Parts: sequence; structure tokens; C-alpha cells
Amino acid sequence: MSERDTVAALKRLAGAKPEFRLSELEKDMGEEESLERLAGEIRPHLDDLGLTLRPAGDDYVIGRRPGGALTVGAAGRERQLAFFERPEVPDYIQRLVESYIEKKTAKPWDDPVVLDRMANAILAQKSRYWKEQRVSYRKAYPVLGYLAYHAPVYLVQFEHIFWQVISRGLAKPHMRILDLGTGPGVVPLAVIDLLGRIGSGSAEVYAVERSEEHLEAYNALVPAAAGAQGNAVQVHKPIRGDIEALAAGDLPDRIDLMVFSNVLNELRHLDIDRRADLVAGLAERLAPDGTIVVVEPADLANSTAMRRTVRAIADRGLAVHSPCSFIWGTACNPERCWTFEQKSNIRPTRLMERLAGETNAYRFINVDIKYSSALLRKDAKTQHTYRVPPGAKFARLSHLRRHRDKKINVVAALMSGNLGNSRTKVYKVCDGTPANPVYAVIPATLRGTNRDALEGLAYGDIVRFYGALVRFNRDHDAYNLVVLPGTRIEPVGCPGGEGGGMERV
Ligand SMILES: C[S@@+](CC[C@H](N)C(=O)[O-])C[C@H]1O[C@@H](n2cnc3c(N)ncnc32)[C@H](O)[C@@H]1O
Repeated sequence: MSERDTVAALKRLAGAKPEFRLSELEKDMGEEESLERLAGEIRPHLDDLGLTLRPAGDDYVIGRRPGGALTVGAAGRERQLAFFERPEVPDYIQRLVESYIEKKTAKPWDDPVVLDRMANAILAQKSRYWKEQRVSYRKAYPVLGYLAYHAPVYLVQFEHIFWQVISRGLAKPHMRILDLGTGPGVVPLAVIDLLGRIGSGSAEVYAVERSEEHLEAYNALVPAAAGAQGNAVQVHKPIRGDIEALAAGDLPDRIDLMVFSNVLNELRHLDIDRRADLVAGLAERLAPDGTIVVVEPADLANSTAMRRTVRAIADRGLAVHSPCSFIWGTACNPERCWTFEQKSNIRPTRLMERLAGETNAYRFINVDIKYSSALLRKDAKTQHTYRVPPGAKFARLSHLRRHRDKKINVVAALMSGNLGNSRTKVYKVCDGTPANPVYAVIPATLRGTNRDALEGLAYGDIVRFYGALVRFNRDHDAYNLVVLPGTRIEPVGCPGGEGGGMERV
């Protein structure tokens, strides 16, 4: 057996049980080998996998390293960062999707009739989405259309989010993941792909979905992808059910990562408080140090509804870990909170290109990644630990009305990239207090170092502004903090956390 197979068998066993004997690994591999030699073979991989090995009589015991977060080796990190530089749906996943289309339709995946039906399903789905009507996944083509149009960006998007979870020290060497409203398994595919690429960590994945058609796609795609990536991810049979009507016994417990990806906005019949009740109820299944991910599309309606839902979940006792920082220790008012992240476009898939043909790119090429997300925790862990020190000379953003047309000092988190253009730069900022949106504005006429002072900072980073000019923007009922040549801009480095755009991996 090759070293790669040995490591795959090791990951598989480590995923299935917290502790096992080396002789079990030997048996699992179906080969007689000296235990000494096998121990020597696996030793170099133990750290990356978060495992320990200790002698026990004439055998060894392999166990999970207690506590510690998943660490990623330098080579794995480089591979993942290179993937984010030129993101695309990996070829093995594209081929799985194409084969599934062929199995469902009994025709080549790019047969004109198949493409035509998929195109119609995509147009119908987009139209229902924008009319805020419920999208149905009862028939085959809406799910094939979803795989063609939505799934590629959501897959890479979740890789960004999962990478943040890992970078912020919130991932364990072995994770139990529950994906609610999994569709065709987009989140599990992202986890499988990322862990396969970085070559460390393992997971077991549970999923809930109510659409039979989506589940059929899931069963065709997810286990095969896990196999293609060396089985570091153990895929449990997905649970068919309605996430609003799950009994406690239906779900696993001690979940490390619970994911709601593009699903809460589909619960249109529930108001914000009922959605928050649902998430808070399901959080009962979370491990004490587990993380909840909520992610929704970045458009104004969905993004704002998502922030209101996250606020309501926090009111039910969970802590917002990121991206928001409540640096004055106050609860925020999310009624007008529109904040999202943007990442590099993905490369169109073969399927998108065939659907678009020569003239329909604007309809069927869906490559930009913009999303609103939040991480929530049961413990009180937050990304940034900074709080405005008592007596510090900073104004709260909720008090800007008092400081109109004056220069003031404020401290706030950066909650967008540049929303303006290359001349006038505009960044959303928030300190957890304001009801009106507030923007830091770099005027087109500003020269000198302040022009680029906010570039290179990460979404959510906290920044001090000394001597920014307050202007009220009547058209938008918003405030601008105008950066002047004399304004001092200082990113806050957090003791015990990351600051200044640093992520820990
Ligand atoms: C937009 S898709 C998102 C799929 C996947 N999470 C992603 O990010 O690509 C929403 C999924 O949630 C499922 N869904 C919506 N309401 C649900 C419910 N009450 N119970 C279970 N699944 C639900 C839908 O069937 C659909 O597959």
C-alpha cells in the first residue's frame, strides 16, 4: 500500500472514532506489516492530522490531540491561497456534475435539448428569486439548473468562509459538520475540496434537505467527491426532512460547525424572530465550542434580513464572533445594515460556457462572489477583543449628529471594500452603535499616504481615525467621515486576537 493510501486509511479511522489501536489501522489496510514500521510511516503526518501516537503494550494507541485548533502546513496553505488567486470549480467536481446530468437525462450533458431545458429552469429560478417568490426544487431541471448556475459560486464562496473558520482558529483537527438545507451538497463539496487541497484535517458531514431531487444529486456527487479526495471526509447518509420540523433525535449532537448557507431566505413564511428561534433551537446540537455559519446573498433585501436575523439570534444568547465587533459593548441596530464581502470572480465552468453560447453570457455566466455572512458561537469567543477603553477620547458613531461639520476622533470596524471608485473611495464603517449608515470617504482630491490608508486591511478590521471631518449626506440619510490630509488613521492590533489584516493559520 502506498503512503497516500496509508494516510487515507488513517484519516478514515480517525474520523470514525476518537481513539483506536495501530493494529486496527493495519487490519483496516488489509496488510500485515510490522507495527514499528507502520508507526514510523504515519509519524510525520500526525501533527497535520491533529493526532497523537503512544505505545500501549506491544501495540500503539492513536488519539486526537486534545483542544488544539486545526493547523495547516505551509504547503497546504500555499495551495489554498493559490486556489483563491484563480478560483474555479475543480475539474473532478465539474466532471461529477456533468456525469450526473447525463445519468438524469440519458443524453450527453451538452446536448442542445438538455441545455435548453436547463436554461429555461435557470431563467424561471432567477425570476422567482427577484420576485421574492418561493423557488421549487421538486422537478429534475430546477436542480440541474441550480447545479449549473448557482452551485459554482456558492461552492467557492463556502471555501472562503471555511478558510476563515480555519484561519481564525475555530476549526478542529476533526470536525462534525451539519449542513442545513444542503441542496445538492454544495457546502460538503466545498469542505471536501478544501480539506483535500490543504492535506490536513478530517471531517464527518451530516446534511438535511427536504427536496428529493436535491438529495438524489447529493448522493451522486458528495460521496464520490469525498472518495476522489482521499476520504478525509466521511459522508453520512443525508437526512430527508424539513429543518423546521426536526425532532431532537433526528440530528447528531456535539456539532462543531453548523451551516445555514443560502437557506434562511427561503423560509419566507417565517419572520425574523421565528428564523432566529429556529437557529437558536438547532444550536442545542452544537458542541460548547462549536460555530454556526449563516451566509446569505449580498443584495440589499437578503443581506439586511440576514443581519437582523443574526442580531435576533444574538439576543437569544449566542455571540457574534465575526464580522461585527461591538466595541462599545452595546447591541447594534441592524435595520439599515447592508454589509457584504466580495472576492475574486470564479472562472466560468464548462457548463456555464455552453449555456451562454455566443450571445447569452449575461444570462448564464454567474461568476461574482458577493455574500453576507456571520459566525456565531455558544461560548463568548469573538474575533476581535478590542473594547473602547473607558475615558478614551472617541465619539460613538450614534452621536455623529452632534458633531456635524466638525473634526472628531472615532474608532470603528471596516465593513466593506471600496464601494466608490478609484478616485473617490468610500468604505462602510461601524462601531456597533449607529442607526444611520456611516462611511469613511477618501475624497478624489486627497493626496499623500492617507489615500491608500484603508487598502490592504481586512473586512472587519478595527481602525482609529483621529481628526476626520463629519458630513451629513441628506440624500442617503447617512454620515460621511471625510479623511483629510491631517487625519491620522491607525489600525488597531488586538491583544489575543488578530488585527491589521492578519489571519492566523
Ligand atoms: C438556495 S438552496 C441552498 C443550497 C446550499 N445550501 C447552497 O448554499 O448552495 C436552499 C436549499 O434549502 C432547502 N430548503 C429550503 N427550506 C427548507 C426546509 N424548510 N427544510 C429543508 N430544506 C429546506 C431547499 O430545498 C434548497 O435545497
